[in-house]
Amino acid sequence: MYLKEQHKIWLACGSSPIYLEPSMANRHGLIAGATGTGKTVTLKLLAESFSDMGVPVFLADIKGDLTGMCQMGKETKHIRRSIDSMGLTEYSYTSYPVRFFDVYGAQGHPVRTTISDMGPELLSRLLNLNDTQSGVLRIVFRIADDRGLLLLDLKDLRSMVQYVGDNAREYKLTYGNISPQSVGAIQRALLTLEDEGGDIFFGEPALDIADWIDWAEDGRGIMNILECQELFRHPLLYATFLLWMLSELYELLPEAGDLDKPKLVFFFDEAHLLFKDAPKALVDQVEQVVRLIRSKGVSVWFITQNPSDLPDSVLGQIGNRVQHALRAYTPNDQKALRAAARSFRENPAFNSEEALQALGVGEALVSVLDEKGIPSVVDRASILPPRSSMNAAALEAIQNVIESSPLRDKYTQVEDRRSAYELLTEEQNRKAEEEAQAKRQEELEKQREKDRKATASRTSTKRTSSTKSSSSSSARKRQTALEKTINSAANTVGREIGKSLIRGLFGPLKK
Ligand SMILES: Nc1ncnc2c1ncn2[C@@H]1O[C@H](COP(=O)(O)OP(=O)(O)OP(=O)(O)O)[C@@H](O)[C@H]1O
Ligand SMILES: [Mg+2]
Repeated sequence: MYLKEQHKIWLACGSSPIYLEPSMANRHGLIAGATGTGKTVTLKLLAESFSDMGVPVFLADIKGDLTGMCQMGKETKHIRRSIDSMGLTEYSYTSYPVRFFDVYGAQGHPVRTTISDMGPELLSRLLNLNDTQSGVLRIVFRIADDRGLLLLDLKDLRSMVQYVGDNAREYKLTYGNISPQSVGAIQRALLTLEDEGGDIFFGEPALDIADWIDWAEDGRGIMNILECQELFRHPLLYATFLLWMLSELYELLPEAGDLDKPKLVFFFDEAHLLFKDAPKALVDQVEQVVRLIRSKGVSVWFITQNPSDLPDSVLGQIGNRVQHALRAYTPNDQKALRAAARSFRENPAFNSEEALQALGVGEALVSVLDEKGIPSVVDRASILPPRSSMNAAALEAIQNVIESSPLRDKYTQVEDRRSAYELLTEEQNRKAEEEAQAKRQEELEKQREKDRKATASRTSTKRTSSTKSSSSSSARKRQTALEKTINSAANTVGREIGKSLIRGLFGPLKK
């Protein structure tokens, strides 16, 4: 709950009230705990409090249970108990200013990005490419750049990869080796991505992340909720997409120095997916983005079942921790539990390891940074209840929010600008047409030469009967007809060559 007078977020009730210091929010946060222990409810409370403070937030909604934030909360036994036991005299139910986004465009404004915006690194991860293959993908991007070809959607990238593959020898000197194997592997990976419906993410209008940083008329920060139920079925796409959003934010925002509150808060649910099977280079990249984005005033909250799901380099940067209950069934669980307990500044009043296993739903071990950036001693606490609805909103309510959003028209209409695909197809068509034209010309020259010879031989055996002379004009006519036939044959040949070349270059044409 945001306490305006004190400019603090009242997060939980432990041995004393626990407040989150807004100026330390950009030292990032972690919400962890076994399933059903209260992570999402904690996330809702925090998102609401930041919004009340005038800070826009972004949330990935994996189960659809965040949609309820557009509606006022209702009293439950659990909430009544919390209100009474915590003495929440100023507690009231309310709804929040929400905007829905959805990569599939069904339950929110469609979210797209361009291939260029996503860049070769993230795409390599998305396509599961090895080092050599991603090296080739980088070359494809550079050649597109140098040739001024826009890479907007997947068909642009497909055409570009094919083009670079076909002209590998020519580009080798300037850009390095482009092996047919790597080109083939990238093409196969692109096909797989398309089969999974990945083409829907790429194109225009691309999401302008600046649209997230907005406020309702009453000054509360907008809650941008990305519907992820469908997206989450493709974990790699989900993780890559969220990472792209983070890096866009990083690029968009200027250095901010120390602020009294963050500019935006980014909640990354199921964050372990980001690191699952991730190559070291990517983990390094995430670590860097998370570290640097701090100075831009962005607060990132990782939500995951177990803190050990995150690499140490990322955990090391997290200042604020809400650790819900953990279960320890296996030796691995026990190890993770010990590590989670040890990550806190010890409280002599209790044993963190034991407490972690005994916490009830909505309870957590909490440690936050004070205004000097020093982590507080860990406390066992109950998290305050959120003020908006704990349930998912009905489809109709979601549609109403979408309909009344100022962003509705901006993202609805799909654009298809002239980009690499169109330009390369035209170039190829032009080449094929030129070749066909040259061939036609050659055939014509040959025929003329033949005609000349025939005329010459007729003149040498000259002055035969008048019937013969009259037939020469009909011969001329016949020749013209023959010329026509050849011409049209050459035309057909030309067109066929053109077609098969295009097919060979781009595969079956879509349009
Ligand atoms: N602070 C709280 N105040 C009131 N009720 C709570 C609180 N925390 C949790 N609950 C109750 O517990 C239920 C489960 O909590 P929640 O959905 O947050 O779990 P979760 O950790 O996100 O689970 P999962 O890993 O499955 O997503 C909620 O629907 C709510 O009824
Ligand atoms: Mg949850």
